[in-house]
Order: sequence, then structure tokens, then C-alpha cells
Amino acid sequence: MTNVVVVGAQWGDEGKGKIVDWLSERADVVVRFQGGHNAGHTLVIGDKTYKLSLLPSGVVRPDKLSVIGNGVVVDPWALVAEIERLRKQGVAISRDNLRLAENATLILPLHRELDQLREDAAGTEKIGTTGRGIGPAYEDKVGRRAIRVQDLASPQTLGPKIDRILTHHNALRRGLGQPEISRDKLIAELTAIAGEVLPYMDVSWELLDAARKDGKRILFEGAQGALLDVDHGTYPFVTSSNTVAAQASTGSGIGARLTGYVLGIAKAYTTRVGAGPFPTELSDAIGEKIGERGREFGTVTGRKRRCGWFDSVLVRQVAKVSGVDGIALTKLDVLDGFETIRICVGYTLDGERLSRLPASTSAQANIMPIYEDFEGWSQSTQGARRWADLPAQAVKYVRRVEELIECPVTLLSTSPEREDTILMKDPFV
Ligand code: IMP
Repeated sequence: MTNVVVVGAQWGDEGKGKIVDWLSERADVVVRFQGGHNAGHTLVIGDKTYKLSLLPSGVVRPDKLSVIGNGVVVDPWALVAEIERLRKQGVAISRDNLRLAENATLILPLHRELDQLREDAAGTEKIGTTGRGIGPAYEDKVGRRAIRVQDLASPQTLGPKIDRILTHHNALRRGLGQPEISRDKLIAELTAIAGEVLPYMDVSWELLDAARKDGKRILFEGAQGALLDVDHGTYPFVTSSNTVAAQASTGSGIGARLTGYVLGIAKAYTTRVGAGPFPTELSDAIGEKIGERGREFGTVTGRKRRCGWFDSVLVRQVAKVSGVDGIALTKLDVLDGFETIRICVGYTLDGERLSRLPASTSAQANIMPIYEDFEGWSQSTQGARRWADLPAQAVKYVRRVEELIECPVTLLSTSPEREDTILMKDPFV
């Protein structure tokens, strides 16, 4: 297998940035296939830190082609701003190294406003979205009224499409007591940004087909995490895209058999940003300690992440649904020095034992974790680069995680530095 799909195996923020960067060095093409600028990938290369939201991680490395696939929702203003920000950091971005699928859906200012208006109106029922307009844009995509990248190139058909989308949105806005959106203003805004976006437009499926025929290595870069998947996650506290590995195929236009090895990324503990069920959440000093040691603040919104113990039930389920071949376990060092480490191995609900996440929202909110207690280790694992450098208890912990999730740990990350990585199996081989 020469291609690799990277997906988050929890609720996002698993440390995908470092792993994707590490893999992208050996990939020829890096593809985003879902989500939008709600993602936040931090890359540390030498003495430079890059923060990416919408652009594939390959963009910061020379001679890599980055593709924003059709499954991504693209805010053209955010795209242009991110390109500008990276250029100021010395990154060269042009059509030579960045392409944007012609059939990707656009996020418009009205989507962002609607996202925020809905959250404000939701009171205690908030999802805790990133406020970027992601959900409303995906709604318009499946509602068959979205404006897509290639519409920017067809001024003659843009007008009727804007009329169609505004019929829907202005009715909604009237209901929310908001002023209607002006058709002419929106067309003028899109026309003004079109020239900065269209140079990157291309045909994603054709590009990937050609890359594959040339024997190129393609890396599919997932954003968010599988538990935020709109079908398989903790619905309705999810994002609006499919975040599981299968989306790499539909979100870019490559055949399902060709996406290759699936690498799931999981932290040695669990975090979540935003609202929703979190069975192993720790609202105590231990949760605080994990958050501080793991620097658990959101890249995109700066929000403090909720923290808890590793939940093997969830990661096992994700591994099955995404067909994960191997797990990259990150931030093991955050658990250094804990006398006891707990792993969730099942749940109870009304006296019954469960070995999977139930689909019902109320059941998800009421399940109680069953823990297995594990003796911790006092030595540091930070910066370990060889399996032999790890304390025996840390090795045992990883082995127990593998058993419980029924999937091998093929990569271990022991610090944000790219070299502090223990590789058991190269996903590209
Ligand atoms: P949305 O994607 O902005 O609609 O937000 C929906 C949910 O997904 C919220 O709980 C967000 O906090 C969460 N979310 C979205 N993107 C990310 C991410 O990149 N990392 C972690 N959580 C995310």
C-alpha cells in the first residue's frame, strides 16, 4: 500500500498535526477531504511553528502538492487569509503546490452568522461549535443549494444560484429577526474574492488518478476526530461532516480501495472541546493536571479542553468503524508521574454492562465508565525515541491499550518534536 489515511480516533486534537507532518515529508501529495477551517493543525518545523486550519499540512514543505478535496467546505476569505499568513512566514504558495477541488462547497458569511445565531439562541442546548459556519454550509450542500468553487468562474449562472440560496436563508433570517441578505452585495463580495481563489481550482479526482498512475504517495489528512462524525459520533454533539476514514474516498474522488493504510491517532488520555457526552471526563484536580501538562487549549478557538482518562471502548469502536490498521498513540509523556492511571474498559447503564457506545443521546449522557486501574511510572517518557527507552510500566500500558482496542499501536509520539517518535511499523510500506 502506498497511500495513507490519517484520522483522529477520539474527539479531535489528538496530535494529528505532528504525525501528518512527519508522514507528509515522505508523501508526494497531501489531501484534505472533509471539514473546513474549524480544524487546527499545529506544525513545528525547526524553529518555526505553523498553524494551519484549512490548508493541507503538505503546503509548508517544498515539492509537495496539497489538494483541498471536494468534501471540504471552503471559506474563500479564510483561505486567502491563511495563504497570506503563511506567505508572511516565508511559505511559497501558488498553483504549483496548491489545488482546490472545483466541486468543493463554499462557506459564505451568511453561514458563519447563522452558526453563531443558532448557538446564541440554543441556551443550554449549545453544541459548542467553532462558529465558522461549517454546519450551515454542509446543510446547504446536501440541500442542493450550495455555491461551489466553480460557480465563482461562471458569473452568468451565479445570480440564479444566489437567488436560490437566499430564498432559503432570508426566510430563516426573517424567522430569527435578522435583516435579509442583499443579493447584489453577496454577488459583489464573491466576485471580488473569485480572482484570488480561482487560480487554485482544479479537478481533484483527476489529479489523484494521475498521481496514483505515476506511483506517487498520497496522504489523506483527516480533520477533527471519528467521535465527531455526523453518523458515527456522539450525535448531535458532532461536526457536520463524516470524519471516518471512508470519507477520504468520497471527499476527494479516489476509489475506496485505493486510499491505503488507515492510521488512527489517539491520545494516551481523552479530551473534548465543546459540549456533549464524555464518559471518562475528570472534573477534578487530576483533570486539571492532565490539561495543564498536555497544554489542552484549542488551536482554533483557544477554548480550554475537557480532559479525562483513556476510553478504550470508544477507540475500539472507532478502530472498527474506520477500519484502522494501526494507532499512533500520542502524548504518553503527559501521564508520566501519575501513581495510578485508569483506563475505561466498559460502561454501565441502569445496572447493565455495555461494551460499546450506545446511539441514544440520553444513554450516552448517562453511561458510567468501568475502570481498570493501572500502576503508573515515575520515570519520564518525554522524548523517548526507542521502545527500549520507555519504563517497563509505560510499555505495559501501551500493550494493554492495544489489547483493549483490538488494534496495534504502530507509532508512539513522546513530545511535540517530530524526532521524538517511536515507529513500530511504517504506514507507507
Ligand atoms: P463545528 O465543526 O464548528 O460545527 O463544531 C461542532 C463540534 O465539533 C464542536 O464540539 C467543536 O468543538 C468540535 N470541533 C470542530 N472542529 C474541531 C477540531 O478540529 N478539534 C476538536 N473539536 C472540533
